[in-house]
Amino acid sequence: MPDPIALVPLPRSVVWSEGTWETTDPWEGLSVGLNSDLPLTEYSLSISPQGAALTAGSEAALADGRNTFAQIVTGANGSIPCVTIADSPKYAWRGLHLDVARHFLPVEEIETFLDAMALHRLNVLHLHLTDDQGWRVEIKGYPRLTEVGAWRDQTLVGRMDADEDSWTFDGVRHGGSYSQEELKGLVEYARKRGIMIVPEIDLPGHMQAAVAAYPELGNFPEQKVGVREVWGISDHVLGVSDQVFDFLRDVLTQVAAIFPAPYIHIGGDECPTGEWERSTAARARLNEWGLTRISEIQGRFTTYASEVLREHGKRVIAWDEVLETHLPDDTIIMNWRDPAGVTTATDRGFQTIVATSDLLYLDHYQAAPADEPLAIGGRTTLEDVYTGRLLPKKLGGDQERLILGLQAQLWSEYLPDASAFQYMAFPRLCALAERAWGSPAQSYAEFEERLRAHLPRLDAFGIRYRPLDD
Ligand code: ACM
Repeated sequence: MPDPIALVPLPRSVVWSEGTWETTDPWEGLSVGLNSDLPLTEYSLSISPQGAALTAGSEAALADGRNTFAQIVTGANGSIPCVTIADSPKYAWRGLHLDVARHFLPVEEIETFLDAMALHRLNVLHLHLTDDQGWRVEIKGYPRLTEVGAWRDQTLVGRMDADEDSWTFDGVRHGGSYSQEELKGLVEYARKRGIMIVPEIDLPGHMQAAVAAYPELGNFPEQKVGVREVWGISDHVLGVSDQVFDFLRDVLTQVAAIFPAPYIHIGGDECPTGEWERSTAARARLNEWGLTRISEIQGRFTTYASEVLREHGKRVIAWDEVLETHLPDDTIIMNWRDPAGVTTATDRGFQTIVATSDLLYLDHYQAAPADEPLAIGGRTTLEDVYTGRLLPKKLGGDQERLILGLQAQLWSEYLPDASAFQYMAFPRLCALAERAWGSPAQSYAEFEERLRAHLPRLDAFGIRYRPLDD
């Protein structure tokens, strides 16, 4: 029989059968239980005219099963088709990254993203909480991080051309931050939906907002720096004093206490070394550490952050640049720059998350730029996300086993509000979810048709997605 209900991502095995379950309260009628005979990641859902039963090998798999059940019962109007589903994900890490630093998203808007993630059985929200253009997390003992670092006086309008004289600014103060209590609330909201939140404190680069708040954290404290009002990469990176390392210890310790996830992301991307090269203090430190290459200062940061976080039972995740300097063996690499980086990282034995910009940066245009809102560049269509090659061709079995999963990135330089975030996320995130889940491969035409029937579920959450092409 034809599928009576479109499911996205498609479960591994779905067998529809004749008959319906007539009920006005399907959630009340669903029996739920753990089953230790099932693998930890697997759930089994059956709906018969007599009722519905969900069993799973773990709480996480139960959450997946509930999220599939939600797709079946919403919109079924009390007459629910019978089905047997056996399902488990391909990847443990099915992630979405939200850059709430370049543009702040209110808590309720993050909750809407969490609702939509759960609908697609995505299970990790990576929150990019700090960057040059804004510091978004309350850190006790450092009030200026949010009083000063969370606000910029104005923002560049339009694209950041090379010619600085052509830049214009909007004159509008932008910012905001999350209290520790708000973040704990979000963690709980996510947990109830089967989602783990992994915070990122981007270091030692992308720190201009912190340096604006506390100039002594920079390399040249006498130099006054504001929160950055343009995009690109700032030269103002962390300095190397004991005070800076004490600051990092305080920040990472507090962040570790807010987020129960066993991982913390420490950024590590795009850290220019110019200030360290010009700083006599940095050179002296390098000598003291017995190092010769200035770039190795970054390795000291990676190692230090990892040691602090290990004391709190956390493992470090970082962008792939950290592979270029010293790093602990248990670091998890988030590969973004080059698809071949997945080979490099796994060859060296590092667990790796595939977040590569060519297919998984959802700030890229999703159709011809002339017809789309201004974006950072690139072009990645829905079909690209559904069909594109995500892993390098020649990856051995040992290397594949080191791949934790897939993650889509929403960088927000050109996403001024929640509606813009949603437009870029959907429906491409539906395709990413299907691939991260490891749904049985279908033709793109089949996926598109199924997606067309699925999109009203996004409407129900008030999500303003990009409509499918006719
Ligand atoms: C990045 O896009 N800088 C990770």
